[in-house]
Amino acid sequence: MTFDTTFPDGFLWGAATASFQIEGATTEGGRSASIWDTFAAIEGNVANKDTGDPACEHYHRMPQDVVMMKALGLDAYRFSVAWPRVIPDGVGAVNAEGIDFYDRLVDQLLDNGIRPFVTLYHWDLPQVLDDRGGWLSRDSAPWFGEYAAAVVGRLGDRVRNWTTLNEPWCSSFLSYSLAHHAPGHADELEGLLAAHHLMLAHGTAVPIIRDLCPGAEVSITLNPTQVLGPQDPTAADLDAVRRADNNYNGVFYSPLFHGEYPNSMLEDVAHLTDGSFIHDGDLSTISAPLDNLGVNNYFPTRVRAGDPGANPTRLAGCEGVEAVAPQGALTDMGWEQNPGAHRQILLRSAHESGLPVYITENGSAWADTVSADGAVHDPERTAYLHSHLQAVREAIDEGADIRGYFAWSLMDNFEWAFGYDKRFGIVHVDYDSQVRTIKDSGHEYARIIAAHHGRS
Ligand code: FCB
Repeated sequence: MTFDTTFPDGFLWGAATASFQIEGATTEGGRSASIWDTFAAIEGNVANKDTGDPACEHYHRMPQDVVMMKALGLDAYRFSVAWPRVIPDGVGAVNAEGIDFYDRLVDQLLDNGIRPFVTLYHWDLPQVLDDRGGWLSRDSAPWFGEYAAAVVGRLGDRVRNWTTLNEPWCSSFLSYSLAHHAPGHADELEGLLAAHHLMLAHGTAVPIIRDLCPGAEVSITLNPTQVLGPQDPTAADLDAVRRADNNYNGVFYSPLFHGEYPNSMLEDVAHLTDGSFIHDGDLSTISAPLDNLGVNNYFPTRVRAGDPGANPTRLAGCEGVEAVAPQGALTDMGWEQNPGAHRQILLRSAHESGLPVYITENGSAWADTVSADGAVHDPERTAYLHSHLQAVREAIDEGADIRGYFAWSLMDNFEWAFGYDKRFGIVHVDYDSQVRTIKDSGHEYARIIAAHHGRS
């Protein structure tokens, strides 16, 4: 199938990764342990007891990996910086060897004509800071500010695109309420506290980034999800959708872009907290103006009304919400493929934020293998890519100012609790030999990029 949809001039084509998922070398170069090293070491948390090693050994293979990006024709590369490499004690002294790695990466990208998009935090909090309360502590905001200053102070002369946090929903609710991610807590209120402190850390870092990098384009990457109720919803179903939407989306959209938490959410969590964790001035810190919004989106979320006295989701404020199984064709993650919902969440994100949007992650996992012909045939990933790019184009036509698309992921990597079992790359990685093979979908992505630039 030929995909010949066109995109606006200047539309940026990229791929994304994250430090813990690709770097490996977890004990090298002065890096201290992160919460993910600790979490992965506990049996039962990660499939096959997989850990951050070897990952893609990117820490040692970075120059070749950038050459591969160039071969794909990428305009931009989104990566994250590992806080425990840069400031192993969490606060205080900067580890020269750690920051030097990212300095070389930035130079290598620029030498190859690839624009760096740097994410400061993609979930690898230094363990020493978790020992001091992690995201449950308000001190996390100044800790993060200090770390942001160290990174931006060093790379800000060459990097323009800065993202404070990746998917704060995951580093709060998924990590502190659902125990699926590090640090693995299961407490309804903690998810909300962590979310607030992550927002505060974000808002604290924004002016620091601007001070140290004049001309910076400052952003945050959220993972909003379209919350879908039943076909013919009852009033109780609509209330379940509203509550779930507050937890997944409103809890971030509202403070960031409207300077307040949704009133109805505060009412729904009143049995957990009197709201005293929100101090005077917090919301104005959090709502510091941004230049664009990053959206990661893979699938919608389905819910319906359940027992009003129960909260099987364990998400703050979601009493009476029952999760509904995904529908239609699923990916290897069991995630629903729904380009229409992708279009809707892009439109909603553009509307809520009033900002230009970059899709900072989108993609799909499949059980890929290298075939006898040496290629990786992944027609499902190519079909997912086509249908979701089509949805992006439709959202643009309907008025969303979407500036670029980053495929998740550049290469197969450590997929958090699923370890190395799930492959999202447009490039296949053999973890024994570390050989990289561009998948058919990667070749197709390169063709789409080349066609966009009139190079085909
Ligand atoms: C997102 C994460 C990213 C990756 C993809 C599949 O939630 O940001 O690191 O794991 O999902």
